[in-house]
Amino acid sequence: MSGSWPAAERKLARAKSPSDPLRFEIRDSAGAVVARIRPIVESDLTDNGLIATIARWREENKERFLTIVPFSPEGTRHWMSRFPVGDPGRILFLVEAANGERLGHYGLLLIGDGEAEIDNTLRGAAGVPAGLFGLVAQRIIRWAIDDLGARRLVVRVLSNNRTAIRHQERNGFVQEEILPLRESRDGDIVRREVVADASLSNLPFGLAVLSYPIPRR
Ligand SMILES: CC(C)(COP(=O)(O)OP(=O)(O)OC[C@H]1O[C@@H](n2cnc3c(N)ncnc32)[C@H](O)[C@@H]1OP(=O)(O)O)[C@@H](O)C(=O)NCCC(=O)NCCS
Repeated sequence: MSGSWPAAERKLARAKSPSDPLRFEIRDSAGAVVARIRPIVESDLTDNGLIATIARWREENKERFLTIVPFSPEGTRHWMSRFPVGDPGRILFLVEAANGERLGHYGLLLIGDGEAEIDNTLRGAAGVPAGLFGLVAQRIIRWAIDDLGARRLVVRVLSNNRTAIRHQERNGFVQEEILPLRESRDGDIVRREVVADASLSNLPFGLAVLSYPIPRR
């Protein structure tokens, strides 16, 4: 679900420009470059190595997301084409180590006028320096607030995913509520959807909604 925020959509389109995508260097507290991030762009749809890597990351972590599908390379290419590349309200940053190794991805979704959601956060590689994804998160949070002009920034995490909740709390997010979820199965697709009342839930966990405190300007 992406909402209408035309000014930010224009900035996302520029950021996803295939010839000159937005790039950020991620530096540690000593100033050393520890990672680089840049959006997934259209030309990535023909990079079979990247598609296979993202498919593997998503398959390995599928239980942690709202929709569970078997993540084949072809399904992943289709998903990338439709969402991070094709949806004007979405952007997905590929996180690469200083030596070029692919480490994971971290996304942003526009959900309304002045409102954005951090989504598709995934560290795929092992042996990533502690705190590196926290630095990535800080860069994207600052970009969303300072460049896009977000006035509300949220992240939604399954409430049994303590690692991701701890990560987002370290990033400065504060838990607002836990919404009840109902799981349904359609062939090999499992969907968890927010329901109006906890009595309708058939899961022992819910969807934690966290928000980032943004001072009013
Ligand atoms: C969510 C996710 C991207 C966060 O990345 P991460 O690498 O775990 O996050 P951080 O860099 O914040 O923390 C990693 C470790 O470094 C430690 N750390 C963080 N900042 C640190 C710092 N400045 N100095 C030292 N250690 C630090 C943390 O304590 C953490 O260790 P712990 O897990 O033992 O507590 C990752 O956990 C992930 O991909 N999970 C699977 C997919 C998923 O659940 N996605 C969320 C779906 S909503």
